[in-house]
Amino acid sequence: MRVIEIKNLKKNFGSTEALKGIDLNVEKGDIYGFIGPNGAGKTTTIRILLGILKANDGRARVFDKDAWQEAVDIHRNVAFVPGEVNLWPNLTGGEVIDLLIGLKNEVNSEKKNAMIERFKLDPTKKCRSYSRGNKQKIALIAAFAQDADVYILDEPTSGLDPLMERVFQETVREVQKEGKTIFLSSHILSEVEKLCDKVSIIRDGKIIESGKIEDLRHLTRTRVRIVTKKPVKDIESINGLFDLDANHTTYTFQVETHTIGKILKAFNPYGIEALESTPPTLEDLFMRHYEEA
Ligand SMILES: Nc1ncnc2c1ncn2[C@@H]1O[C@H](COP(=O)(O)OP(=O)(O)O)[C@@H](O)[C@H]1O
Ligand SMILES: [Mg+2]
Repeated sequence: MRVIEIKNLKKNFGSTEALKGIDLNVEKGDIYGFIGPNGAGKTTTIRILLGILKANDGRARVFDKDAWQEAVDIHRNVAFVPGEVNLWPNLTGGEVIDLLIGLKNEVNSEKKNAMIERFKLDPTKKCRSYSRGNKQKIALIAAFAQDADVYILDEPTSGLDPLMERVFQETVREVQKEGKTIFLSSHILSEVEKLCDKVSIIRDGKIIESGKIEDLRHLTRTRVRIVTKKPVKDIESINGLFDLDANHTTYTFQVETHTIGKILKAFNPYGIEALESTPPTLEDLFMRHYEEA
């Protein structure tokens, strides 16, 4: 079942084309990562999905309902954590959590208290005294204490310390086990890589890559540095070397991971003195796209 459907979505702010026609589908039960650098268009997309912004063109549907026209209906089943968490300064954390949950649902105290415990929040302090990370925790606690079908989270961990980031990840996995759907944006790849099944990478208002993390990994290449005893004759005739840089007898290049054996054989007659290979990471793929800017 499709939970989020985005088709050729466009949004302009004056002369800024924030979204230039993006496509993206999230299925029920996905933990879907929406990755991209600052200014790529993540928050704009999320705000359109929530019916806060109106798109200029294209489709944005949640549970097969129009994000703009049927926002009220959609919101009944959505829990949302904004990127910038603004709270009522004079209320305590606990009061704000009750308020945020109460806007939509009856407060399930057991679930709420379990989340407060888990995220180690002191709910008795006034919001004005909370750090950025604690404000983020409040929004997360309020979201996860709700019984929603989809959780839309905009850079939910950018203010959390590593320990809390792990708590966040555990919570997301539990929510997924209950059959829920999670859509989260981030500019930090490593966090998404650990958690998400599928990702879309957005840059400059365009989706530049989409798919299962495993499949994207196959697109990445292993980086190799070889030092040989003798110069390699006719190096250009070795197939499958990308971004080759040859300096005397030191060769650096990238290879498709499955061709590495064949390539080492080609180097072997010249005597391999040193060999380093750096395994593929999604980071490389990500950087390659970033650098193409
Ligand atoms: N309300 C707004 N008015 C004008 N420009 C905006 C507004 N919101 C976002 N933008 C611009 O749209 C682009 C995408 O922004 P945003 O969606 O916030 O990116 P991200 O969340 O990926 O960092 C940026 O160039 C940003 O400056
Ligand atoms: Mg943003």
